[in-house]
Amino acid sequence: MKRETLKQRRRRLRREKAIRSCTRIAVCVIAALALVTVGWKIAAPFLGDSYGQAETGNDGQKGPIAEVQAAENEDGSGNAGIAQLAETTEVPYEAPGWQYDNTGWWYAVSDTTYYQNGFAVIDDKTYHFDSSGYLSVGWTPIGGKGYYFDENGVYDPEKDHSMMIALTFDDGPGAHTGELLDTLKQYGAKATFFLQGVNIEQYGGEAIARMASEGHLIGNHSYDHPNMLKLSAEDAATQFQKTDDLIAQYNNGSGASVVRFPYGNKSKELEAIAARPCFMWDVDTMDWESRNVQSNIQAVLNGVEPGQIILMHDIYQATVEACKTIIPELVSRGYELVTLDTLAAASGVELQNGVTYYGFSQADIDAGNVSDAEN
Ligand code: NI
Repeated sequence: MKRETLKQRRRRLRREKAIRSCTRIAVCVIAALALVTVGWKIAAPFLGDSYGQAETGNDGQKGPIAEVQAAENEDGSGNAGIAQLAETTEVPYEAPGWQYDNTGWWYAVSDTTYYQNGFAVIDDKTYHFDSSGYLSVGWTPIGGKGYYFDENGVYDPEKDHSMMIALTFDDGPGAHTGELLDTLKQYGAKATFFLQGVNIEQYGGEAIARMASEGHLIGNHSYDHPNMLKLSAEDAATQFQKTDDLIAQYNNGSGASVVRFPYGNKSKELEAIAARPCFMWDVDTMDWESRNVQSNIQAVLNGVEPGQIILMHDIYQATVEACKTIIPELVSRGYELVTLDTLAAASGVELQNGVTYYGFSQADIDAGNVSDAEN
């Protein structure tokens, strides 16, 4: 190695010294910034309203600066609180009462206050206001329960039950059914399984025994998934009988208590042969086609509504994987995941043998499309 000349050595030392002093300056600047930030945080609450108002405020509409009266319960399940409009808010109305802005309806109790986070009776009608003070409309989870408010926000006590959804899984059991049962159990969720005889033979009945003991509903989905419209009455009956016999081996001697026809292909004659309540669905996730976790999640969560029957297939890994997101998300939105018989009972529907049910959502009820009992 060549020895460095004195000149080169001086230059190197000068360079190193410069780097050291630059580093020192940078460290000093960072420390000073940190000090100022901490100081500002500590001082902010004492600097008066102007600071606080800059942070609150709801697009200049209204922001709770101070509650005149706290809501009875933090989760909104009690009487509404009364919150004070931010002082910076230009009072957007001439008189107290109902107000509307681009987010929704709210209620001004006085010139500067409004209802928030709870129920309030106005003109003998019960309404609910969310934590920002806006009127609740439609199904709303409040304190872990479902409440229904009509299009004017008026509370309908007739529909006072949990927001329920029925997840249904067809074509199993399969290689991933046990994993799905684990997820359901983890979140206290119940589901309905429409089983195929051939898959009970292939994958065994261990999953069926678990379904029975863990509170799931067991359904019959034929022996080997034919288009039953093309079968003779005798063959159709055999399709159900073989599967019931297989189920019974793992279900304390009982066959399935509900039926879903393969492809939903049904007739009055087939319903009579099934001789149990039969079920279609509100939401077809098309999981058998997509085999994609994200599209399954979106298919269920986008547009989910209380009372819906959701169709999935536990024979696909992507479906079982998607349920690890779908189930906790529905639970966190306040939904209770129940079996089809529980959903029907909560909707005030008494299930009949040989009748097909389509769903129990408000859309089904409004369209008179709950079942084919009248047809
Ligand atoms: Ni099927």
